[in-house]
Amino acid sequence: MICRRVAILPALLVLAGCGGNQSPLAPAGEQAASIASLFWLMMAVCGFMYLLVIGFLGLSLWRSKVKAARNPEAEPSINPPDRALGRTLLFWAGLVVTGLTVLIVGSFLVDRTITQARARDALEVRVTGHQWWWRVEYRDPATGTWVQTANELHLPVDRTTRVTLESADVVHSFWVPNVAQKLDIIPGLRNVVDLTPTRTGWFRGQCVEFCGVQHAHMAFDVRVESEAEFDAWLARQMQPAATPADPIAARGLQIASTGSCAMCHTIRGTPAVGKPGPDLTHVASRRSIAAGTLPMSRGNLQGWIVQPQALKPGTMMPPTALSPADAEAVSRYLSSLQ
Ligand code: CUA
Repeated sequence: MICRRVAILPALLVLAGCGGNQSPLAPAGEQAASIASLFWLMMAVCGFMYLLVIGFLGLSLWRSKVKAARNPEAEPSINPPDRALGRTLLFWAGLVVTGLTVLIVGSFLVDRTITQARARDALEVRVTGHQWWWRVEYRDPATGTWVQTANELHLPVDRTTRVTLESADVVHSFWVPNVAQKLDIIPGLRNVVDLTPTRTGWFRGQCVEFCGVQHAHMAFDVRVESEAEFDAWLARQMQPAATPADPIAARGLQIASTGSCAMCHTIRGTPAVGKPGPDLTHVASRRSIAAGTLPMSRGNLQGWIVQPQALKPGTMMPPTALSPADAEAVSRYLSSLQ
């Protein structure tokens, strides 16, 4: 009894991995649902064949054992009569061909479905993979201007978002398992993936192509929300950064927009217009820091500013030589950027 319970445990653990906010088997998008159905079809066909083969193997072993017990003197023979062998082989060949045909047709149909999304009024988003973070740009359909954010993707539910993928350096791969298929990001190429989420909530995206030491810390948060919530979010992102009322945060603004931070980061509405790093205009509205490395909080922001190499060794962000008071002022300012 105990043995059986112990055997069930790993099976439960494996099944527990089939849910959650980073799982292709808990689909929250049309493309992911198609892929999940193909997975279950493959599982059914291959599982059926596997059970059949194991079943017949067991049967033949059992039969030869019974035969040997009845007539221990007889020479063991595995050769059935020719006609029976012919029929059996024909049956198995038919079964294999049928199974493979089902799989080929299924995968062809799924492939067609996921590349033919309802893209007529698709929302346009550009995602650029960097070592090791994501630049995300939204096009305002009304004005045609692009607004930038980082490491967080917002998607309106029940509408197709067409994401154009580009790389700033090496090969990365873009994947939001709950919503759609993965697609490689190749330098010099522009790949396009459609995402049609069908369920609201927070999901997790991840780079799935080894791209250097911090590949594992190249994640992003995905928020699927109602059209109204999405519009409100986009409208907020379009706004320039707010000027802080708090005097310490105001000093932080001064330091961040004129010191070394401004060489790499843009804070719209301030003199900081650096391009290499993530746009910080609404950094505090995001859920995490440094591409999913740390949860967003003022303390974590300050830690990240002072010691990025300790938190994410190899990151392109150099440690900043700020006094503790200045680091606090900058983190206060950044955490006011909602
Ligand atoms: Cu980018 Cu792995």
